[in-house]
Amino acid sequence: MNEETAGFSSLQETLATHFKWFHSHPELGHHEWETTARIRDILMDAGVEILDTSLKTGLVARIGGGGGTVVALRCDIDALPIAEATGLDYASKNGCMHACGHDFHLTSMLGAAMLLKQRESRLMGAVKLIFQPAEETVNGAISVLASGALDDVAEIYGLHTTPDLPVSMIGVSPGAVYAAVGSFTIHIHGKGGHAAHPHECRDPIVALSQIVGAAQTIVSRQTSPFDTAVLSFTHVEAGNTWNIIPEEAFAEGTIRASGKERVNAIMERLDRICKGVQESCGVQIDFHCELNAPAVNNDRELAEFVKRTAQELGFKTGPSSLTMGGEDFAFYQERIRGVFWNIGVASPEPAHNPCFIANPAALSAASVLLAAIAEKSLERLSSVE
Ligand code: NI
Repeated sequence: MNEETAGFSSLQETLATHFKWFHSHPELGHHEWETTARIRDILMDAGVEILDTSLKTGLVARIGGGGGTVVALRCDIDALPIAEATGLDYASKNGCMHACGHDFHLTSMLGAAMLLKQRESRLMGAVKLIFQPAEETVNGAISVLASGALDDVAEIYGLHTTPDLPVSMIGVSPGAVYAAVGSFTIHIHGKGGHAAHPHECRDPIVALSQIVGAAQTIVSRQTSPFDTAVLSFTHVEAGNTWNIIPEEAFAEGTIRASGKERVNAIMERLDRICKGVQESCGVQIDFHCELNAPAVNNDRELAEFVKRTAQELGFKTGPSSLTMGGEDFAFYQERIRGVFWNIGVASPEPAHNPCFIANPAALSAASVLLAAIAEKSLERLSSVE
């Protein structure tokens, strides 16, 4: 075993140990106290500078000199309210679970920090390492942006595990790879009464049924077949027994599309349907919608750069897994050029499933790629200046 390979395998061992600790100590968004403390300890042991920010959980570290070019690597650190069922000897027992691989993301970033620290004197600028809280609630990125920590960043890169690809295979594509996400609620106020006398009532259930039915035509009849979009009702409530027409009905759901303009257009159409049903059924309808996150939209040139860097390091590459899921990395890309790429972890089950397993064998490879992307983007940016 040569010196370099020996170093690589000890990095893998160190990271696997950290990974198992993070996996068995999952914490929900904005409550990642122990997780943050552990990340801080590991970084400080490696001599990495931790910046003072307004973040309550999560942190921002910096490697390399100030004043010059700055690029950022971002990972997320929060878990999900899922009871783990993997049977792993390092499984979580606290009712929460790292079922989306964020334990993998943050551990590979710690590995990248160790590698970059070794090369600090050679870096052509600074690398900021963002350990972001609360990705699952899609608002952690906003708190990082509000902290000002990214104001001087020229490019940003992040990774996500994917169960579909073999261990260490890289998926990267230009353009939209995660959907823009919107959510809506519909409150219908009708007039309740005896189920035997519907003519004396304004039935909110019939009104809601019409909305749910008509909404199915928004994607199928009013959206171009060349555009990707989803509208799903996910929660409906009305009434509590068999012989009473209730006063009210409620529904909520989500809209996903390849860009926020499309999500907004679909919301407008749903609003129009609600207004029409309000008129025809004589009920009062309160429609509320909001855009939760824009689409993750990879810069074409930088996606090519990530692919080339991965190939140069010997990674197999392929296209990114396209998903109608959301990712708040999108908020960074609204301000900063960036790429969000996948790394294969060959999980037997999909993300957000109680049996999701991110194979730790890919950890050091992810670290090597993250570090190389940061280092090479600094080289490229400083040669352009
Ligand atoms: Ni995730």
